Amino acid sequence: MFVLGIESTCDETACAVVKDGRQILSNVVSSQIDLQKQFGGVVPELASRRHVEVILPVIQQALDEAGVTLEQIDLIAAAYGPGLIGALLVGLNTAKAIALALDKPFIGINHIEAHLYAALMSHPEGARFPALGVVLSGGHSSLVRIEALGRYALISETIDDAIGEAFDKVAKILNLPYPGGPEVEKLALSGNNALYALKAGQVKGKPYHFSFSGLKTGVLTALQREGDRLDRAGLAASFQTAAFSDVVKKTLAAAKEYGCQTILFGGGVTNNRYLRAYFAKEGKEFDLLFPSAELTLDNGAMIAGLAYHRYLEKGADPLNLEASPRIIGFPY
Ligand code: KG4
Ligand code: ZN
Repeated sequence: MFVLGIESTCDETACAVVKDGRQILSNVVSSQIDLQKQFGGVVPELASRRHVEVILPVIQQALDEAGVTLEQIDLIAAAYGPGLIGALLVGLNTAKAIALALDKPFIGINHIEAHLYAALMSHPEGARFPALGVVLSGGHSSLVRIEALGRYALISETIDDAIGEAFDKVAKILNLPYPGGPEVEKLALSGNNALYALKAGQVKGKPYHFSFSGLKTGVLTALQREGDRLDRAGLAASFQTAAFSDVVKKTLAAAKEYGCQTILFGGGVTNNRYLRAYFAKEGKEFDLLFPSAELTLDNGAMIAGLAYHRYLEKGADPLNLEASPRIIGFPY
């Protein structure tokens, strides 16, 4: 079964052709970093306009690279949320239009669930369930108990900033270009991570919930206090370690409490090599499944891959499925 997967939730226009949920025949990503960099972050209206410009060529390239025609595609999928409304509408409406015109089934996919599926897709040997899902992205920081593919129970989430958002804001404070996460990681490489005393927040009565807003403010306060004496690399490293030691501690404790041997990681922040090394060191007794490099950031293959399973289990979605910028509960 050939599935076309479209992703346009934020600032990547992406399309992939995936066979039977796993075999990636093409995975084309058109990034807007060049455009959004000038503004230090994603300007939603500009994101939508760029999606409109590139979506058809991106779809065509995905088909060409896969060596299949639109007529050979069996299922059309697109992320329907969460994300920027204007951006979502471009991918979603394109998918619906193709489905309608060619009389093919259509399916709307939850972007965050797809990020977790990306880890499964990268490890065909599969996970042992229940597994713990760890979502660390620009919009979400959550721990989820995964009973099986499609069956989830939310354990915790952030009560303020998402972790990727905190990385992006800290990057701005440190005058680093957008997108901030990889820049903070790079700068932290040459810094002493114990130089500044920083800590992520704890939430009373909710041991697994996250709070990164105070940590971000701590970075700003240190910068203002230190003035010319500031060691930028030390501050980046201290921030990164404070954020990740909190994530590692809460994740491993939750995995134990909820009886999960396998931990699945999803979202852009899980691309961070320091985070991966940290988990490898502290979480040796668990099976740690990270998505492969091409599946970590926003992409169409994770959308197409998950859509295959969703379709086999529940069938197609109606064409009046609406875009959902915010989805409450999990999957969001
Ligand atoms: O999953 P993603 O591509 O989009 C969302 O669904 O949000 O994640 C983007 C987020 C951004 O906040 C970006 O700064 C962060 O992931 N990110 C990183 C790294 N690479 C991307 N954060 C820390 N270290 C990285 N290497
Ligand atoms: Zn994402």
